[in-house]
Amino acid sequence: MYESRLDMGTPLPLKIGMPVSLTIDGQPVTVAAGTSVMRAAAQAGIKVPKLCATDSLDAFGSCRVCLVEIDGRNGYPASCTTDVEAEMVVHTQSKELDELRSNVVELYVSDHPLDCDTCSANGDCELQDVAESLGVEGSRYGMNGANHQDAAKDESNPYFAFDPSQCIVCYRCVRACDDIQGTFALTVDGRGFSSKIVAGQLESFMDSDCVSCGACVDNCPTEALTEKSVIENGLPDRSVTTTCAYCGVGCSFHADLKDDQVLRMVPDREGHANEGHACIKGRFAFGYATHKDRITSPMIRESIDDPWREVSWEEAFQYTAERLRAIQDKYGPDSIGGITSSRCTNEETYLVQKMVRAAFGNNNVDTCARVCHSPTGYGLKTTLGESAGTQAFNSVASADVVLVMGANPSDAHPVFASRLKRRLREGARLIVADPRRIDLVNSPHVRADHHLALRPGSNVAFINSMAHVIVSEGLEDTAFIEARCETEQYLKWREFICGEQNSPEVTERITAIPASELRAAARLFASVPNAAIYYGLGVSEHSQGSTTVMGIANLAMVTGNLGREGVGVNPLRGQNNVQGSCDMGSFPHELPGYRHISDVAVRSLFEQEWNTRLQSDPGLRIPNMFDASISGNFKGLYVQGEDVAQSDPNTHHVEKALQSLECLIVQDIFLNETARFAHVLLPGSSFLEKNGTFTNAERRISMVRKAIEPLAGLEDWEVTMALSNAMGYPMDYSHPSEIMDEIARLTPTFKGVSYEKLDRLGSIQWPCNDEAPQGTPTMHVDEFVRGKGYFAITGFVPTDERATRKYPLLMTTGRILSQYNVGAQTRRTANSEFYAEDILEIHPFDAEERGISEGDWCGIASRAGETVLRAVLTDRVQPGVVYTTFHFPSSGANVITTDNSDWATNCPEYKVTAVQVSHVSEPSEWQKEYRDFARRQEELLDKARV
Ligand code: SF4
Ligand code: SF4
Ligand code: SF4
Ligand code: FES
Repeated sequence: MYESRLDMGTPLPLKIGMPVSLTIDGQPVTVAAGTSVMRAAAQAGIKVPKLCATDSLDAFGSCRVCLVEIDGRNGYPASCTTDVEAEMVVHTQSKELDELRSNVVELYVSDHPLDCDTCSANGDCELQDVAESLGVEGSRYGMNGANHQDAAKDESNPYFAFDPSQCIVCYRCVRACDDIQGTFALTVDGRGFSSKIVAGQLESFMDSDCVSCGACVDNCPTEALTEKSVIENGLPDRSVTTTCAYCGVGCSFHADLKDDQVLRMVPDREGHANEGHACIKGRFAFGYATHKDRITSPMIRESIDDPWREVSWEEAFQYTAERLRAIQDKYGPDSIGGITSSRCTNEETYLVQKMVRAAFGNNNVDTCARVCHSPTGYGLKTTLGESAGTQAFNSVASADVVLVMGANPSDAHPVFASRLKRRLREGARLIVADPRRIDLVNSPHVRADHHLALRPGSNVAFINSMAHVIVSEGLEDTAFIEARCETEQYLKWREFICGEQNSPEVTERITAIPASELRAAARLFASVPNAAIYYGLGVSEHSQGSTTVMGIANLAMVTGNLGREGVGVNPLRGQNNVQGSCDMGSFPHELPGYRHISDVAVRSLFEQEWNTRLQSDPGLRIPNMFDASISGNFKGLYVQGEDVAQSDPNTHHVEKALQSLECLIVQDIFLNETARFAHVLLPGSSFLEKNGTFTNAERRISMVRKAIEPLAGLEDWEVTMALSNAMGYPMDYSHPSEIMDEIARLTPTFKGVSYEKLDRLGSIQWPCNDEAPQGTPTMHVDEFVRGKGYFAITGFVPTDERATRKYPLLMTTGRILSQYNVGAQTRRTANSEFYAEDILEIHPFDAEERGISEGDWCGIASRAGETVLRAVLTDRVQPGVVYTTFHFPSSGANVITTDNSDWATNCPEYKVTAVQVSHVSEPSEWQKEYRDFARRQEELLDKARV
């Protein structure tokens, strides 16, 4: 029997007031002032019938089934909209109340099919519960009045259906869409008995503005809005609480299962990162985990022109170890390396870097953070002393001004975007700095005060200019700077930032932001008690990515916006565990906890625990590995859960590097683009198939719990362990908790972390140690991790990728809500119904100049390569700028991006590529070759499977 989760009826009061004692049904109850009578009753274990109330939405008071009696009060107040008072005496049960409630429920039933026995919500329907508790089996009002029972179902959405005949017009879906999601896609059409819920302008859900977050489905008390998987399979019979494996928000979910099939992912109302909300990816796009394309047997082959051969795990490990050892014997110990995955757990990532350092015997380990947020690590460590964001997500609820720079939260971090939009609707002000008009600039009930549409490549000039205005107009927070920052360095920086080159009137020529608008934005930023900065890959993926991150930290310090709620420097991390993979020592120069490999004391700590000798020099970064492969010095690579062939820039170069390897081992759940170049294919396990932890953008460590057995029999950490053993370096763990215990022993910021504590607290934000045993929601409260804050000098250096006569447009890239990164997962779900191909956004002026119309194929050429995409004409992008996503391998977005990279970290400059665009009629040469190669590799895989 499916057990519904406990619903307290109304949310916790926003401000927890003084304790109030009252009596409910003779029971003494003490709750905080501001609590509803309904919630107080629930807290005492007393269930008051309800229909329009739920604890994720403010009380609405429309259904009138939650009536109670209160001594000394006339009438029957609704318990959901009545707050507790001291000494109150409440009665939730009486004959009169039963009659009143039954009357209301009979009215609902008169417009509701009496088909509970065959309804898919049978056992999980609040109307059914209430009717049963009151003994209502029919309706005195008959079933033949005006009703919705013939209304057509809306099954347009691939994941959920709307059946108006089951709707009781409680408005919960409308309120969820407005208040939680912030999309305002639903309304009520008509009045009284004929009122009905409609999407958009009387459209289907699919045609409306609905973004398929599922909040309306979660909050619907009947079967009116239900997941199709439940309609088809019935209710789940068990549930496992785990963490989403898509983006860096790290939402907590209940994976609801029937037997061994995941039927739905229900966002966890206790989840600290998401508080019961989700987006289309985590909520619905989990079907890839059991897709027919999953690799479920280890495979090997001599060369990439051979068919794959399925082998046992044992043979695969022996074969791999022998090939890697043979390479080392021939080319030296440094000729092999590994890439850890920001999709895998902390424990798995930790093991891969440990295997590289201890079993491979070198430091040639890197991670995909190299290509996204490595500048964040460098920039924040330099200025503040710690390579991570400073806040918890709920901090935004105290922000007065929010600067969103180079990020598109409503597509890439949707659950955070919903929180942000709620704060903006409450009155916080918004500054968006982005070359493209992202949705946040103007969406329902949200309008940015300033959209600073800067030119790609001009971030540093922009951020310096903001600080210039603040300092030169005397708007800085002198007390904060004096108390918290290095004085001498501040004075040097002050002189630099006040230089004329940083004034908005001068930078306007670089950024294209009108000086007056930039001045107004800077004044706004500096004028409020709490200003917060949220940024994304539009900051880091530049030749000056690290400089911009330092500029952002400078802006926060100079305005005193660090060390408390509502402020801070907040990198919106891309992948689910990119923070964790960096924390776990995935970079070639750093051991877990961001400690340099050259530090003798740190190294000897690890040498003792790992019982081995470690090299003291940093190893190769991913781009160095590729270069070394092409030049013949690097021959073996183990890649876990990372698709470098699609995700890394300059595809021609990457493909050449992969082809030059003598042994490429790919561990993944699918034959991804990189695996097509591999000699060993080790099946990966999806997040549903393993135990471990992820760390999100808030530094929040959350549990990943196994919901189903690994399809190939082993979890990823077990595979790495076995490979290490085959290589001759022994590893012996029986559960990931033991790996976490080792991490805690070796890493000061994780010292207090354990699975027992994670189970008890739900999640923990590191640092978690003796000083902060429950974790650290806000960093740098009294002092910075490095002591005093450091104002780095952030001179602007133009990128080499400039518009020229040959390549007159600047191409920038980003993500779309329904697809995820390289798309390997989302493309194997119904999410492709929302976005089936990458397109090129181009301004109508630029399109007209080139004779390009909507939907035309256009060739995009850069100095690195050429590809073809379909054109979408839009003024979202400014003239001179084109934009695309990179979710489909055949699009070849990275055929065009160049090997330009951040000066400090080698993070590629994905966000600026000088291109020419022209009208064409056929795919590019690369696309034709890609299709042939992909088809051939699929055939070689199919041969192994028959
Ligand atoms: S669809 Fe569900 S949540 Fe929406 S009004 Fe109808 S019953 Fe209530
Ligand atoms: S799925 Fe989300 S966006 Fe769509 S109608 Fe429901 S609440 Fe609104
Ligand atoms: S916001 Fe991110 S973590 Fe949350 S459900 Fe969506 S993809 Fe998953
Ligand atoms: S639950 Fe209180 S009025 Fe509906």
